Amino acid sequence: MELALFNMIGIHFVLKWLHIFFGILWIGHLYYFNFTQGAFMSQTDAPAKSQVQQKLLPIALWWFRWGAMWTFVTGLAMLHTASYAGFSIHGDWGIKILTGALFGITMWFNVWFIIWPAQKIVIQNAKDVAEGKAAHPGAVAAGARALLASRTNTLFSIPMLFYMVAAAHLPIVIDTSNTMAYWVALLIVWGVLQLNAFKGKLGPMTSVNGVISCGFGLTAVVYLMMEILL
Ligand code: HEM
Repeated sequence: MELALFNMIGIHFVLKWLHIFFGILWIGHLYYFNFTQGAFMSQTDAPAKSQVQQKLLPIALWWFRWGAMWTFVTGLAMLHTASYAGFSIHGDWGIKILTGALFGITMWFNVWFIIWPAQKIVIQNAKDVAEGKAAHPGAVAAGARALLASRTNTLFSIPMLFYMVAAAHLPIVIDTSNTMAYWVALLIVWGVLQLNAFKGKLGPMTSVNGVISCGFGLTAVVYLMMEILL
């Protein structure tokens, strides 16, 4: 018997296994922050809140951001090994996986360049205030920035996962000869939502139900764009 893992198909498989492991680690924490911790924080007193910010957040954010990093790294690696597993970036698999990856890569960016820098301010502020030092003047704004980016990532996570899994498992009939209209439309929708993450409003994403509903809505919009424009 030939060992199944010691060839490029096997390497692609191991990358996929690790990718899903890190993806669970990352998105599990994302949903914990948005669905669980947020509700807890809104109904707890100031000292407990401060303890969460000082002691729990640094641990949870460590797993969260490194989960994001390794999901991203294994995902990029698989874009290179996929051809050995019989997938082509130029075919319908490519359109679906690049749609999922667009959302995934944006989410990785938001973790490392918006959420983590903002949360470092929130954590430092909680530690300073607990020691009787002055509050950080930008702490409230940093918390709001992190929340908006985190809600946007929750929104993106729903179509991201749909297309990540649809790539190899949902045979959407796609004409790949001219994909320009689809990519332009997708980049407009994505761009507006990501610009909102930089400096916008929570809107319906304020509530957990709202952000989940918007995530399913966005998935349907992208699906229709694919059906109509390709
Ligand atoms: C950060 C950017 C990401 C990139 C560049 C990326 C890229 C990829 C690629 C190239 C594949 C290979 C699919 C195949 O062999 O057909 C894949 C599969 C997969 N990805 Fe991602 N991914 C990213 C983020 C995520 C995240 C955050 C999750 C959340 C859990 C995720 C979940 C999955 C799953 C479940 C599969 C397996 C689908 C299957 O069995 O066909 N990915 N990804």
